[in-house]
Amino acid sequence: EETGKGEFDHYMLKEITEQPTSIAQTIEGRYDPRRGSVSFDACEPETFADIDRVVLAACGTSYHAALYGAIVLRRAGVDADAILANEFGVSAPPIDDRTLVVAVTQSGETADTLGALRAASRAGATTLAVTNVIGSSAAREADEQLFIRAGPEIGVAATKTFSSQAIVLTLLADRIATASTGSSSLPIDDICADVDRLPSLVETLLNGSAAESVARRYRGERAFFFIGRGLGYPVALEGALKFKEITYEHAEGFAAGELKHGPLALVTPETPVVAIFTGTEDEKTLKNAEEAATRGAPIVAVCPGGHDAVSLADAHLSIPDVHPMLSGLLATVQLQLVSYHAANLLDREIDKPRNLAKSVTVE
Ligand code: AGP
Repeated sequence: EETGKGEFDHYMLKEITEQPTSIAQTIEGRYDPRRGSVSFDACEPETFADIDRVVLAACGTSYHAALYGAIVLRRAGVDADAILANEFGVSAPPIDDRTLVVAVTQSGETADTLGALRAASRAGATTLAVTNVIGSSAAREADEQLFIRAGPEIGVAATKTFSSQAIVLTLLADRIATASTGSSSLPIDDICADVDRLPSLVETLLNGSAAESVARRYRGERAFFFIGRGLGYPVALEGALKFKEITYEHAEGFAAGELKHGPLALVTPETPVVAIFTGTEDEKTLKNAEEAATRGAPIVAVCPGGHDAVSLADAHLSIPDVHPMLSGLLATVQLQLVSYHAANLLDREIDKPRNLAKSVTVE
């Protein structure tokens, strides 16, 4: 086990740091940055020709990637929704032979997600597994497979698999939209050009991150809130999940616009608010962050340097400028680092948090 961690104290930090490589593996051969086109080695366009709607089913971090994917699919012009796999049996949207159900699961063994996949097959849907594990149950049982190629992830807290899932789903959205509706509203040439830059942008971010000092500064606060809009919303949920999972501190993620509909009652000078800016309707998110700042909450802005949010914020986690469809991925890496350092300062069992397992094989 020690050998596997190399120079790192924890697998989690190793896996966060591996993201330039894991992302490069994920994208290799799957897009053409010059022609701005997606080319998968699987999932031929015919697979999606008769699809009217897409339902993504997943749990935990994979669910947040599924939410990310659903937003990109809708922006591409496809009717799409993400649903918690454990809610699938009781509240799935209508599913028939014109539905594509995508099971998003790192391990490919999550019982809840396999349950959704099987229910979708029984209802006549086309099924697709987006997974990291070749030969996993999800990969074997689904009609189609897309592997995220993130490499083995040992830490219970999912990190590099989230970025790889979100990238695969972003590229897949264009493929599905083009095949099923005849066109995609995504600016895929711009996206592909920036997908090409992602490994080096993540490297830059990792080398200059202020995450450790942010974690140190807010150590011991009463609760931590994460807010974001659009693609920043699943990133906020994921930031909060990671934080609570490994620090055992109270953390919640909210859609930025929802803060004023209830959660604002929780905001005090003892509750740092981490505001994620992904380049879409940022002025509204800034107003939401201001509402929290007015109640005395310290604001941690996750945004590029030079962004208007930097002057409002007490602390800044910088992300490189990139296409708004991809900036949430970079924000997630900063949030993974903050959680890691916060948990490390508290001396938590980072790779094996209490009560949790890497793969949950019971319903
Ligand atoms: C993430 O940090 C968690 N360990 C957990 O939420 C996980 O993402 C979830 O159990 C789903 O796992 P899967 O991707 O293997 O299906």
